[in-house]
Amino acid sequence: MRNNLKIFKEKDDILSLSVKINTLMKTNLNVINATIGTLYDDNGNLAILNDVKEIRNSLKDEDVYPYISTLGIKDFKNVLVDFLWQDYKNKFIKKKHIELLPTPGATGALNLSLYMTLNPKETILLPKICWNVYYNMAKELDLNVETYKYLDKNNKFALNDFIKKVKKISLKQKHIVTILNDPCNNPTGYSLTKKEFIDLINFMNSQKDLTFTLIYDVAYYEYSMENTREKFSLLGKLNKNVLTIITWSASKTFTMYGLRFGCIIFIDSFKRKVINLLNKAKIIARGRFSCISSEAANITYKILSNNDLLISFKNNLDVYKKMLNDRINLFIKQALEINLPIIPYHGGFFVSIKTNKVDKLTNLLEKENIFVTKNYHLIRIAICSLTYDQCDGLAYKIKKCLDKI
Ligand SMILES: Cc1ncc(COP(=O)(O)O)c(C=O)c1O
Repeated sequence: MRNNLKIFKEKDDILSLSVKINTLMKTNLNVINATIGTLYDDNGNLAILNDVKEIRNSLKDEDVYPYISTLGIKDFKNVLVDFLWQDYKNKFIKKKHIELLPTPGATGALNLSLYMTLNPKETILLPKICWNVYYNMAKELDLNVETYKYLDKNNKFALNDFIKKVKKISLKQKHIVTILNDPCNNPTGYSLTKKEFIDLINFMNSQKDLTFTLIYDVAYYEYSMENTREKFSLLGKLNKNVLTIITWSASKTFTMYGLRFGCIIFIDSFKRKVINLLNKAKIIARGRFSCISSEAANITYKILSNNDLLISFKNNLDVYKKMLNDRINLFIKQALEINLPIIPYHGGFFVSIKTNKVDKLTNLLEKENIFVTKNYHLIRIAICSLTYDQCDGLAYKIKKCLDKI
């Protein structure tokens, strides 16, 4: 057995926690399960996009049952790049070359990114506040982890700490690999401002004796309140010493979490480099997961390649986004009334509350049948999985527990 697996303790155990909560929910209607990162509607049903469902039901056998190429559908790259960059596409592809490979969700893309860019015992730079699964991946791949603060005491992106930790790693390693989950960070809902993003880019560009891989996790890209396409175009400003790997997720975008579809997207100034990376990724993917689900690839391709479907999908998604925003606005309004220390929210599925007493607070909340997830000096509330009614007053209940500590 691999040694690192013997001592392996999963940091993110939301899925098994959820089984425990679901059992409790069968006998108790007042349970608030704010742990799971899946969008539900205000009746407590899974929010599924109509277009996705209809297309799925209309697929022919040959779209579902055969193996699909490891590289996915031939024209998929073009339609995804059109979708992700929109008006900024032409300008962007003049500066950068793009290749992509389909993966089982963004999780598959993240895992592949780490596997491809670091050797065992090398160091990855991660924010202290992040999706805990990054730590599991690093552990599984036998990587060392260095952390930086992510947000400073004023709740701004902690670039200074990022720089400090890059310098520290660079004493031993000239290639810096880091993951940035933005916009709509999980667990906080924070998005870097345009200035923060440009400052980060400028810093990496200025480090002439280092190379960087920026693994840019955009799982919640479609749920942002800012102009994400403009932000994406800023990646064109990265110098030749920075490789970008976007890890894209169809799970949240198309509300098809279980169909397991995402992409690893290589972006670089050199065409040869992205083609090389794609060829390597193809070989690794072949051995690790072979190919992705034909069904998920076909649903996604049909939507992205058809203008009418694309418009209808966006309209459908807007309805869900409004539903989510209504809940979050209510929660934030009530939280601010009572000075609950929430982290600035800019979009996505979660809101977070700062606390140094994470364990005590979660224990007290569980006694009230409120389940949340723990992160570094904060608790995460998955507003996405609650109804509007469950959000109403939730901030007060949390404050009551906080005040007891
Ligand atoms: C920040 C972040 N990245 C990536 C993922 C992975 O998404 P998936 O593998 O379902 O595409 C998630 C899922 O919760 C996430 O929260």
